[in-house]
Amino acid sequence: MPQAEHQPVLLDAALTGLGVRAHGVYVDATFGRGGHSRGVLARLGEKGRLIAFDQDPDAEAHARPLVEGDARFSFVRSSFAELGERIAALGLAGRVDGVLFDLGVSSPQFDVAERGFSFRHAGPLDMRMNPDAGQPLSTWLHAASHGEIASVIKRYGEEPMAGRIAGAIVDARAAGPIQDTGRLAAIVAGAIPARVAAGKRIHPATRTFQAFRMYINDEIGALDRGLESAFDVLAPGGRLAVISFHSLEDRRVKRFIRAQARPAPPPVPMAPVVEPALSEIGKPVRADAAELAVNARARSAILRVAERTAAAKVTT
Ligand SMILES: C[S@@+](CC[C@H](N)C(=O)[O-])C[C@H]1O[C@@H](n2cnc3c(N)ncnc32)[C@H](O)[C@@H]1O
Repeated sequence: MPQAEHQPVLLDAALTGLGVRAHGVYVDATFGRGGHSRGVLARLGEKGRLIAFDQDPDAEAHARPLVEGDARFSFVRSSFAELGERIAALGLAGRVDGVLFDLGVSSPQFDVAERGFSFRHAGPLDMRMNPDAGQPLSTWLHAASHGEIASVIKRYGEEPMAGRIAGAIVDARAAGPIQDTGRLAAIVAGAIPARVAAGKRIHPATRTFQAFRMYINDEIGALDRGLESAFDVLAPGGRLAVISFHSLEDRRVKRFIRAQARPAPPPVPMAPVVEPALSEIGKPVRADAAELAVNARARSAILRVAERTAAAKVTT
């Protein structure tokens, strides 16, 4: 099956937000197919440097031509949760001028049936971005309790029918393990009453698949660790730019930036004022009509940018 190209979302806004300087050091925490990385490289001069991360082996394969052909570029196959250690090991802690996160999964990840991300393509129920770690969704679904399944669907999918869907999964697995995307999609669709499904614009399994993907990849936990790490490696004046696609992610990003940018006033009148360690740059950016017309993935995207100040990290 031909794979969809991955069109980078909010490319210009992200590059403007990063404020790429010719000789700066930048980190692309989510290489994917390298759309944003190529944009950064196009703005970097000879002495500039870009270190890209991705935990997916297919992303690593797509990064190879750049690794081999551009001395300014290097690739780290790792979760961005480990960005701090990896950047420190390169001797660049506190020297990074910008870190970009473009969260979630890429279009090609969805399109490869074997990865098991999409209910639109029949494939094994895996969903791991890094197939060398953790457990495939099928293994977890076989062992998890009704309560655990319902809570994941509710928390990460914000799905009102979470309890019914979890019940249908538990009933269905009694007849044999659920090992493919098609069977799971049918079980989920069957659990949603026709009158509820009829009023929705999205496929009945959309929220549940998204919830399982976020859980299996610990996406929120990795984001929290990634944001802390990115903050720690930035030089004063360095920029943090984050594109998120889900309100749960955006809330974490907003909360993280605000905690560093708007420290609470001192608890007692004579206590020293805590200086902000980040300053918010501009307002959150969403895709405009022109981008939406050519890239449906941009619909829920939101970009937030902040700049590291010279002040110490605010303890929260
Ligand atoms: C939306 S895509 C990025 C697309 C990229 N900006 C481009 O223009 O091609 C997100 C990428 O982040 C990767 N990813 C998601 N979570 C990650 C994590 N915790 N650590 C490293 N990579 C991650 C995924 O494997 C995927 O390739």
